[in-house]
Amino acid sequence: SAPLDVSLAGVAAGQTIRRIWQGKLILIHHRTPEEIAAARRADGSALIAPQADSERVSAQYPQWLIVQGYCPHAGCVPNARPGGQGWICPCHGSEFDTSGRVTRGPATANLAIPDHAFHPDGLSVRIG
Ligand code: FES
Repeated sequence: SAPLDVSLAGVAAGQTIRRIWQGKLILIHHRTPEEIAAARRADGSALIAPQADSERVSAQYPQWLIVQGYCPHAGCVPNARPGGQGWICPCHGSEFDTSGRVTRGPATANLAIPDHAFHPDGLSVRIG
């Protein structure tokens, strides 16, 4: 099915935009340098669902975190926490770091990453 091209121009650091692809919500978050540093500092192997930040974001464009907008616990839409503190689920309080990795349950999986590829100029991304 058709991929979705999303322009990233004008999405400020710290901002999250929402798009729908194949009927599913996609969250695209522009990470600040502090958010990127926090994601890299965390010991990915010590997490509930161990994964390195480098497995979840582009090496070339690490400022973009692109996740499916559904908590792995029961499917609620997670909210970006103020101040670049990752994500929190409004339903039962699961927390996710600035890489979208679960740091507090009841969720036991990280926010899922949809297939995506950046345009070479980094100004847009193709979902799917
Ligand atoms: Fe997110 Fe339950 S649906 S914590």
